[in-house]
Amino acid sequence: MAYRNLEIAHRGAIRTITVHRPDKLNALNRETLNELTLAFAQASQDDDVRVVVLAGSGEKAFVAGADIAEMNGYTPVQAQAFSRAGQRLMTSIERLGKPVIARIQGFALGGGMELAMACHLRVASEKATFGQPEINLGLIPGFGGTQRLLRLAGRGAALELCLTGANISARRAYELGIVTRVVAPESLDDVVSALADQLAAAAPLAAAGILDAVLQGGETSIDQGLEFETQGFALAFSTDDMREGTTAFLEKRKAVFQGR
Ligand code: COA
Repeated sequence: MAYRNLEIAHRGAIRTITVHRPDKLNALNRETLNELTLAFAQASQDDDVRVVVLAGSGEKAFVAGADIAEMNGYTPVQAQAFSRAGQRLMTSIERLGKPVIARIQGFALGGGMELAMACHLRVASEKATFGQPEINLGLIPGFGGTQRLLRLAGRGAALELCLTGANISARRAYELGIVTRVVAPESLDDVVSALADQLAAAAPLAAAGILDAVLQGGETSIDQGLEFETQGFALAFSTDDMREGTTAFLEKRKAVFQGR
């Protein structure tokens, strides 16, 4: 399937989805949101895909936000639909059931930061810049930013970033727990590739169980979270991969996981 605003690449079990509107710093207009929604649905359904890397085209930006030119003409009803479409996309990424790595260079602002926060792991170049500048436009974040930033970095950081609209460096984002790794710009692709390779070789059903337990656990009581974990742990014992992983350890060889 050909996309107007995305580039899709495959390497083994790794699918890379790149937002490609470089002349608009990869800003998310409605068409791009729709295409991303479709591309992630395809990645979810394709059993050959074990890991997704999400990137932005060019050096300057991961994604510089929702498309301000498009939003400028929206009615409240259109804005509501746009927010819901963005939130649905972010939730579908978070609940993909396969690890999603954001590869972040340049600007990750507004909807770009929200998109990155919906991914499971965020690897940023030292030169990346993060921020929720919506307040500077008389807006509030609308693609889940107030909620995911709150959960990732806590109330203080969420309020400070959203209320000031200030940009922060990748290092500061790392200190706040917003990104999981910060690397030199020239190492970004190698680090993301190595991480994607590592996750692609991991047991996919175990990865899905971990994603499920951590994501659901973040939204519930410790007792319910522990129960999710027990159910996921027990379910793993129904998989060929669990037999393979434990047997390979005992036989002192490398496990080969099939996702069964
Ligand atoms: N929506 C729509 N277009 C955007 C955009 C956005 N979020 N961010 C950048 N662009 C467009 C610019 O309008 C410009 O288009 P043009 O060449 O047709 O005029 C192009 O991308 C390049 O951006 P420009 O502003 O010229 O680059 P810069 O290096 O001077 O500044 C930024 C880069 C990121 C600081 C600046 O583009 C910016 O502040 N963008 C908006 C960030 C934002 O508020 N995001 C949250 C939106 S809710």
